[in-house]
Amino acid sequence: MNVYDGDRMAELLTDQGLSAAPEGDDADLVVLNTCHIREKAAEKVYSDIGRLRRDDGTAPLIAVAGCVAQAEGEEIMARAPSVRMVVGPQAYHRLPEMLADATHGKRVTDTDMPLETKFGALPSRRRSGPTAFLTVQEGCDKFCTYCVVPYTRGAEVSRPFADLVDEAQRLVEAGAREITLLGQNVNAWTGEDGKGRTIGLDGLIRALAALPDLARIRYTTSHPNDMTDALIAAHGEIDKLMPYLHLPVQSGNDRVLKAMNRSHSAESYLKVLEKVRAARPDIALSGDFIVGFPGESDAEFDDTLKIVGQVGYAQAFSFKYSPRPGTPAATMDDQIPADVMNERLQRLQDALNRDQMAFNQASVGKTCAILIERKGRHPGQWLGKSPWLQSVHFEGEAAIGDIVTVELTSAGPNSLGARLLQPSHA
Ligand code: 5AD
Ligand code: SF4
Repeated sequence: MNVYDGDRMAELLTDQGLSAAPEGDDADLVVLNTCHIREKAAEKVYSDIGRLRRDDGTAPLIAVAGCVAQAEGEEIMARAPSVRMVVGPQAYHRLPEMLADATHGKRVTDTDMPLETKFGALPSRRRSGPTAFLTVQEGCDKFCTYCVVPYTRGAEVSRPFADLVDEAQRLVEAGAREITLLGQNVNAWTGEDGKGRTIGLDGLIRALAALPDLARIRYTTSHPNDMTDALIAAHGEIDKLMPYLHLPVQSGNDRVLKAMNRSHSAESYLKVLEKVRAARPDIALSGDFIVGFPGESDAEFDDTLKIVGQVGYAQAFSFKYSPRPGTPAATMDDQIPADVMNERLQRLQDALNRDQMAFNQASVGKTCAILIERKGRHPGQWLGKSPWLQSVHFEGEAAIGDIVTVELTSAGPNSLGARLLQPSHA
């Protein structure tokens, strides 16, 4: 979502007459778009601010945006005098006015979460690569005890159906072949279709699938409790909806899940996956995991390894628990020592990497469509994505944005090699 927000800020500033500084060039303005989800991500902003100081002691105009700005705006202003603007994730449509003030020497902060959303104030989409993000939902009301998102992004809000169809249409006109629908809780999206009926994410996907030049639809990230039967069924019914589902579970142990306030059990999560696999047997599954949540015992961690073994993920993201200021878990007893967390993370990642490799190896020999995203590292080589979100490289007559048919011929842990069978088709 930060990539999406970054694009929107860039578009907004372009309309003010600014243009992107080439990588490595001295910029007049630098916007640091930050993440507060874990401590490591949040700390990065201070080292980045320091690095922006030029040899002669001057610095560009610096704006700190994103969730660190939202959560620690005052602290940033106090700690980093070179920062002139602090702008939260729900206020960045106000960047132009803030920039006008900042260029007149003021230091300005806007971390409001206005009810009237920022989206209406942003310019419409005019540029896109072959793949595009589209934020359909923001914020979260789930309050998992480790997570800052409900505090930094605010309450759950769904963008209106008509606005989304319009933005998707414009992205497609600008060249998008694939759109990934984004939300902290994307499958909680709800809206009213053109006929006044209340619909869920499945209904939105169905409507977007009707855009003729849009070839692929994905969505991320979802909560297990919002995987409705209608959304699960959509995986079996809508060809353009790619066979990939990112569904975080965080832990395989029910006591830990309860302490996390996840409001699902290991079993209810597995039940959802069972239904998804019944609807779309070739679906690739992905998940998020946290190791070392306060109080997690060795045996409880083993349950996480167990669920990993049961699911067989094609891809996954795993993290050491990071205490976040203001969240209930940060003050829980029995915080887990770093060495224990490190050891658990290593064991979990070994298991996840093995499964990812196995998934990739099992794909060898398959014929599938690849959406070409960019040139590869070698001359004449292309890089694209399989329907299962694997990176695939191959050579042949093709162009960025083409969807080509290949045979997958070799597998590595993070990418596959392929042979081009059939050049571009729509
Ligand atoms: N510590 C570690 N990982 C976290 N995540 C969210 N909050 C924390 C935290 N405090 C992880 C979860 C979530 C992903 C986006 O980041 O796994 O699904
Ligand atoms: Fe955070 Fe996701 Fe839980 Fe919401 S559902 S509180 S975004 S981990």
